[in-house]
Amino acid sequence: MKFDTIIRGGRLVTATETVRADLGIRGEKIVAIGNQLAGTRHDAARVINARGRYVIPGGVDVHVHLALPFCGTVSADDYDSGTRAAACGGVTTLIDFATPYGKETLPRALENWRARAEGKSCVDYSFHMCITNWQRQKKDVQRIIDQGVPTFKQFMIYAKQGWQSDDADMYSALETLRDLGGMLCVHAESSRVLDLLIERHHSRAEMKKHGAYLHTLTRPNFVEVEAIERAIRWAKATGGRLFIVHMSTGEGADLVKRAREEGVNVLAETCAQYLALDDSVFAGKDGHLYATCPQLKKPRDQKRLWEGLKRGEVCSVSTDTCTFTRKQKAMWKGDWTRIPMGMPGLETLLPIVYTRGVLGRRLTVNEFVDKCCTAPAKIMGLYPRKGALRIGSDADVTIIHPTNKRKVDWRKMQTNCDWSPFHGWELAGFAEHTFCRGRQVVEDYKFVGRNGHGKFIPRSNPGRP
Ligand code: URP
Ligand code: ZN
Ligand code: ZN
Repeated sequence: MKFDTIIRGGRLVTATETVRADLGIRGEKIVAIGNQLAGTRHDAARVINARGRYVIPGGVDVHVHLALPFCGTVSADDYDSGTRAAACGGVTTLIDFATPYGKETLPRALENWRARAEGKSCVDYSFHMCITNWQRQKKDVQRIIDQGVPTFKQFMIYAKQGWQSDDADMYSALETLRDLGGMLCVHAESSRVLDLLIERHHSRAEMKKHGAYLHTLTRPNFVEVEAIERAIRWAKATGGRLFIVHMSTGEGADLVKRAREEGVNVLAETCAQYLALDDSVFAGKDGHLYATCPQLKKPRDQKRLWEGLKRGEVCSVSTDTCTFTRKQKAMWKGDWTRIPMGMPGLETLLPIVYTRGVLGRRLTVNEFVDKCCTAPAKIMGLYPRKGALRIGSDADVTIIHPTNKRKVDWRKMQTNCDWSPFHGWELAGFAEHTFCRGRQVVEDYKFVGRNGHGKFIPRSNPGRP
């Protein structure tokens, strides 16, 4: 047999072009792209008919939290359910955040997080390393990079969790990572003002009056915008490489655009929820379910973030998957500061961006592939192994129907969550078939993968989108 699998007759979509061709897979790699690869029935063990379908590189979600201890509980999707959800959503590589607890060292924390995934993950994975105490942890940065983890995250909020970094930490981390070829990812929200606004509204009367909408009242856009401005200031001063994670505001996109024009080394991702949902959801009956951090913003922010994707100042779309069930969300008991923050997303990332983006005429199909597959792989040092349909790349391939829609129904999904922010939405772009390193993990929209197939993928220096 020349091939293990031939994907025949589809339209191969990359970040730059769309061509009709067959794709040949042997072992874990793409080994051929061309016409009529299956000359005889002896040429491949299996032929997938992709006529009338888009064949794209597997999605690369670079912002995921699985089984994260957070907000007094542990997020509900782990490396079993979370990576099954990824596969069914056409995502074949994800990057989680290895977070040290207490006085744990960075190498120890990375070991812990790797152990959670090993033998369990159904798709490939990597980690960003979270910095929770720069002074203590900076000595281990080189060791972590040497282990294939060149991206680090600092949080400008979350003092209670013991995760917060200050300006000096950010400045110093940007300098160090500049010298070592790494990149600093930053959660940008202004903690002092946020805390003040929370304190101001944290009364029985206010909570009775506004409920979960207090998320919106305490996180006006300037909470994120001021923090992005400051992080960009430190990137400019140091020449370090900055990646703004989960950017939710239109003004954030303006700042990133301006800074990039001035030559500052800054990139920003947004998440599917900021493109598809707005803060009117908090006024609804189940409004508290939508609490995430940063919070959902206004329709005008959505519009600006889509524009940013088109023009380039928003470089990729991820999910910030951090799933909490209804029972976990019920911990709030009317106090918005107690809602576990985060939502499921891995299974709906590609469908949301495809449906709202491509079918909604905001992006071309090539831009969709760029923002969800190729650019994130390049930025995070995974390309061309991931995010590409090229000979020699990993055979991470997702096949989607260009127009057929399916109704989102959490009861039929892989997530452990018992709700979805997109429940009842009709979306195209679900994975009809998914291959992860040559192995089929989704067939006819059904999960057929196995735990332990997913591997830790060491990454090299971050690149450009
Ligand atoms: O609400 C969220 N996003 N939870 C995960 C932690 C974070 O800040 O990314
Ligand atoms: Zn964050
Ligand atoms: Zn996150």
